[in-house]
Amino acid sequence: MYNFEYFTPTKVVFGRGTESKVGQLVAEQNCKKVLIHYGKGSVIRSGLLDRVKKSLDEYQVDYIELGGAVPNPRLSLVYEGIELCRKEGVDFVLAVGGGSAIDSGKAIGYGVANEGDVWDFYCKKRQAKGCLPIGVVLTLSATGSEMSNSSVITREEDWNKRGYNCDYGRPKFAIMNPELTMTLPDYQTACGCTDIMMHTMERYFTNGGNMEITDSIAEALLRTVLANAKILMKEPDNYDARAEVMWAGSLAHNGLTGCGNDGGDFASHALEHEIGGMFDVAHGAGLAAIWGSWARYVYQDCLPRFKRYALNVMGVKEEGTDEEIALKGIEAMEDFYREIRMPVTIRELGIEPTDDQLKEMAHKCAAACNNKKGSAKILKEEDMLAIYRMAL
Ligand code: NZQ
Ligand code: ZN
Repeated sequence: MYNFEYFTPTKVVFGRGTESKVGQLVAEQNCKKVLIHYGKGSVIRSGLLDRVKKSLDEYQVDYIELGGAVPNPRLSLVYEGIELCRKEGVDFVLAVGGGSAIDSGKAIGYGVANEGDVWDFYCKKRQAKGCLPIGVVLTLSATGSEMSNSSVITREEDWNKRGYNCDYGRPKFAIMNPELTMTLPDYQTACGCTDIMMHTMERYFTNGGNMEITDSIAEALLRTVLANAKILMKEPDNYDARAEVMWAGSLAHNGLTGCGNDGGDFASHALEHEIGGMFDVAHGAGLAAIWGSWARYVYQDCLPRFKRYALNVMGVKEEGTDEEIALKGIEAMEDFYREIRMPVTIRELGIEPTDDQLKEMAHKCAAACNNKKGSAKILKEEDMLAIYRMAL
């Protein structure tokens, strides 16, 4: 068991109609001017943006807005947001949307609160000394960005997709109304469930110790998302299933399921970020496409965890050797992905990378982590390439 720090400063306001409290929550922050930041328009079409503005108006909160955050949010919009906030004297960012709007909002917050190029933080050149306070109205259960210390941004110049983890960026509050996720296309719901599970699996498949309580929470969370993802494929308007998934999404990535371990593996995420950066695929789908190959590549180095996962999460019977049980668990997970219509290969993402592109992705992935990633098995560039080739 490792020592750990657990820091979750985000106030969660959860349930039906909670977006009407946004004015009050922002007013409590004592800010002068708010940037409402959102994506490509789902919040306009659903009427949510109007409801948010109405609530801000009720509390006489001054605001401006900037939409346009796309999946795999771009650095150019972050620069635009920073300039706008400086010009307008913005001192609070309210992200309304999914992980992309939130991450883009966090990046704007870092840019305004620090001198110099905000990309420096994402390419690990230096550390931020602060961030504008962030608030969230969540519309997609997936990334956990509403409580996490992460922000992931893509630089168009070289299609580098890089994450920055820093506690200054943890949102002050997150409004989570599961009903807001009912307008999602099924594909995004499935991508979200995949991402949620992966945030906990990344922490679960480790050789770096753990605590029984953490493992038990992780397994319960994974079983809950497995069951409710299947319900949502048939009943997208099922409130309880939406709520289970939404809360699981926050707990999966706010640090809770990593307490006591070595920080987790996160190789699947690193491998996906290169696919997302180069081919602009949905993050959750990219994870599903790579995971089975990663798991088969590493499971012998982390056999007790893979066996435990098979038995306690996937419901595999305890028959045969540990290896056989572990492999059945991996197969069962891939069957689950198929059931929720997620890809299990890179080609099933609808892309056809050449071998040179796979090499480029492996090279960039290795460069981003000093050629050492993982805990279940430590991967180097040649391992990353082997996994990409297996996953093709
Ligand atoms: O842009 P709009 O029009 O809002 O449409 C979005 C987008 O097309 C749509 N959408 C969102 N809520 C909706 C909705 N459509 C209908 N009804 C709603 N209620 O869904 C699409 C995807 O949205 P996006 O925000 O991109 O998805 P997600 O939340 O999965 O975020 C993905 C990004 O987050 C990063 C990913 O790499 C990716 O860039 N991640 C961030 C993390 C973090 N900050 O902690 C951790 C993750 O591992 C991940 O890397
Ligand atoms: Zn993720």
